Amino acid sequence: MDSIACEEVSSPAAADFAAASENGKAEFNYAEAEEEPRHDFHDHHFHEHGSNSHSHSHVHSDAYHKDQVPHPEEMVYSDSDLEEERQHFRTVKAAFRYYRKHCFKKIGRQKTHYLALSSTHRNKLPSLPAHLDALRQCTDVNYQFILRILEQIPFDEPNEPTMEVAAQSPADQTESMPPVGSFQMDKVHTTIRMFVRDWSAEGALERHQSYDPLLNAVRKYVPLRDKEGDRAKILNPGSGLGRLPWELARMGYTSFGNEFSLYMLFASNFVLNCCSEADMYKIYPWIGQASNNMSSADKLAGISVPDVSPTDLSPDHCFGMVAGDFLEVFHRDGTWSAVVTCFFIDTARNILEYIEHIYGLLRPGAFWFNLGPLLYHFADRAQEGCTELTYEELKEAIIRSGFVFLEERCDIPCLYVQNARSMLRSEYRCIFFACQKPLEENTQVSNHETEVKYRLSTEH
Ligand SMILES: C[S@@+](CC[C@H](N)C(=O)[O-])C[C@H]1O[C@@H](n2cnc3c(N)ncnc32)[C@H](O)[C@@H]1O
Repeated sequence: MDSIACEEVSSPAAADFAAASENGKAEFNYAEAEEEPRHDFHDHHFHEHGSNSHSHSHVHSDAYHKDQVPHPEEMVYSDSDLEEERQHFRTVKAAFRYYRKHCFKKIGRQKTHYLALSSTHRNKLPSLPAHLDALRQCTDVNYQFILRILEQIPFDEPNEPTMEVAAQSPADQTESMPPVGSFQMDKVHTTIRMFVRDWSAEGALERHQSYDPLLNAVRKYVPLRDKEGDRAKILNPGSGLGRLPWELARMGYTSFGNEFSLYMLFASNFVLNCCSEADMYKIYPWIGQASNNMSSADKLAGISVPDVSPTDLSPDHCFGMVAGDFLEVFHRDGTWSAVVTCFFIDTARNILEYIEHIYGLLRPGAFWFNLGPLLYHFADRAQEGCTELTYEELKEAIIRSGFVFLEERCDIPCLYVQNARSMLRSEYRCIFFACQKPLEENTQVSNHETEVKYRLSTEH
């Protein structure tokens, strides 16, 4: 792509930014939906995997329909907890705000390297300077998008520049910003790329591969309403940018996503609460991809987000996002109709704890649907470590925890945040299963026996 394409998108997008902040929230008025404030972002403890930070956070908890509150948290936080939360907020906001400088530094290094080449070599790369300029322009467009995300986040620091000032200030004026670590910057880049998976037309294949088996299983096993006429209530822990729980809400279920990453929460808050139409923004998710690009146009390829209007839910929908650690913010209250996990269970330090927790959340007769690989996030971490079960061991543990296997499929090809144009393509061969918590607890023993035999006789 040449630099003109960047300019083409940045102007309309800039206009749209204003429309989004003015209209998005007003139109997406959850209060219209049965007085249930919806895409609410609730209460919270935040962790960021892999960082040393563990923070608790009370982002904000808007008015919320009491019946729908998954868990009325009554924890008392100490001042140091609260300060830790604030610090974590600052760190994440600073990482987002550092994005432009981080990218510009990288582009600057490429330019320096180019200029250090002999003129003979430089002459062999006539289009490179224009490509680097285009990268800077795309960085700027992404940065405007990031600022829109940050605009929605409360708790401005007293000396923090307003987003308008930040947006207009030349990159050089961010020189004084203290550097942000590569761990945090990776999170920012990942967040931008997650928009491809969840909220772009380019992510349709991934969503079809990963989300459709889960949505189909929900459709097959979970009636929209129970005998009393109450809507089935579904939880999706580790929901990333929120597309899967949004799809469940669109199907008519009471649906809650849950996340503990502030990076994801800031971004999903923006898309779910501030984007009132499809294709409001154009962003450039692959500009940071250094290797395996076929062409500079591929590296500069933009995506339109969101691919659908997040407001496209029925007027009586019930949808929320619960912020915090899945193990901490939900009680094992046996009230959920289904738990849906996608690329999630391998995030556990102790996967057995996740299984027990899911079992405790479900009401008798309710379902757990899972799809994903077993890429243990804490594997090989000297300090932390995790229980690195094979699927065979995991399945036995699930059965021994009381679940009955209803369906199981292995070898499901799934891409995860893939650049379709890249020369490198990695594909998971995922497992999918549908399990049920028995109606009667005392049937568990015989279920165990049946299912363990079943497992042994169906080696995959
Ligand atoms: C691999 S991503 C999958 C995201 C999404 N389900 C998808 O398929 O695109 C796992 C997500 O789970 C979140 N996560 C990990 N552990 C969590 C926990 N204990 N509570 C809530 N979220 C968690 C991470 O922040 C991350 O966004």
